[in-house]
Amino acid sequence: MSIFPEVRLRRWRRTAGLRRLTDRPFPSPQQLCYPVFVRSGSGEPELIEALPGQYRWSCDTLVRALAPVVAQGIVSVLVFGLPDAEDKSADAAAALRDDGPVPQALRALRAAYPQLVLISDVCVCSATEHGHCGILVSDGSVDNDSTCDLLARIAVVHAAAGADLVAPSAMMDGQVRRIRAGLDAAGQQAVGILSYATKFASGFYGPFREASASAPDFGDRRGYQTSYRNPRLARREALLDVEEGADAVMVKPALCYLDILTDLRQRCDLPLFAYNVSGEYAMLHAAAERGWVDLRSVVRESLCAMFRAGADVVITYWADRYQEWFGDDDC
Ligand code: PBG
Repeated sequence: MSIFPEVRLRRWRRTAGLRRLTDRPFPSPQQLCYPVFVRSGSGEPELIEALPGQYRWSCDTLVRALAPVVAQGIVSVLVFGLPDAEDKSADAAAALRDDGPVPQALRALRAAYPQLVLISDVCVCSATEHGHCGILVSDGSVDNDSTCDLLARIAVVHAAAGADLVAPSAMMDGQVRRIRAGLDAAGQQAVGILSYATKFASGFYGPFREASASAPDFGDRRGYQTSYRNPRLARREALLDVEEGADAVMVKPALCYLDILTDLRQRCDLPLFAYNVSGEYAMLHAAAERGWVDLRSVVRESLCAMFRAGADVVITYWADRYQEWFGDDDC
């Protein structure tokens, strides 16, 4: 009796009620983290062409724009800073400034939304004149250890400005340990580290690099970001970060790496984040604009896949329109 015709799986799909009874719930808003870009200065936001609906905010417009997002139940944001082009330099000094876009935004957001979880991206690619994620040495490669020292100093600046979690994304060896030591030495024991542990050298970051003018001038990031053709090395990246003292780990991008998410879910008990990156967002928008897919269906379907794979939290540009995607429970 375990096969057709007695067994009919369509019984569970017959009515919306039966489907609702057995389907997993849609993600709730507190499981989505909203990434935002903040530039220096005041004035109107600039639309990011390759990320429809997303903007380079000034600090004051960001604070206002988040009110409806927070009202929908979103409880966390990931803040990216966009220093002015003339402030970019070889040593990424702009990333250390206490009056830079990230510290300013963190202070303003903390004042406006005391409960909001503030996560800051800790990297230097938007502050270096060459667009790489660290300090270069003469052969054009990124120097690991001095970059780690710099990242730790940036993390301390963000912590002092109110970050709950700092999120290092440079993919340097030992960055988590170095940042932990830096935070602790600065009396910031309470600030956590969300490690971009498993960040793949991916083609899906294209629109982000337009947003933050952070595409490398020469070469690519394969000397530090991990290879999608070497899943064992990717797993070691994550497990080492756990040992180094990460409080949460991330897989990035998300959609092409659902297997990595599932694997890490089984291997570690830290909160697991997935970053649904810019190219994944832009791709769905572009197809929907041409009428080739229905945007709402593909947004729902792809986000559910990331949670099904094992993510606890998904960092996603869809988060600002939670109601639009998930406001009803049609089954
Ligand atoms: C920079 C950084 C990148 C992203 C987050 N932090 C881009 C890169 O590594 O080139 C990508 C985010 C996205 O594509 O949405 N260290």
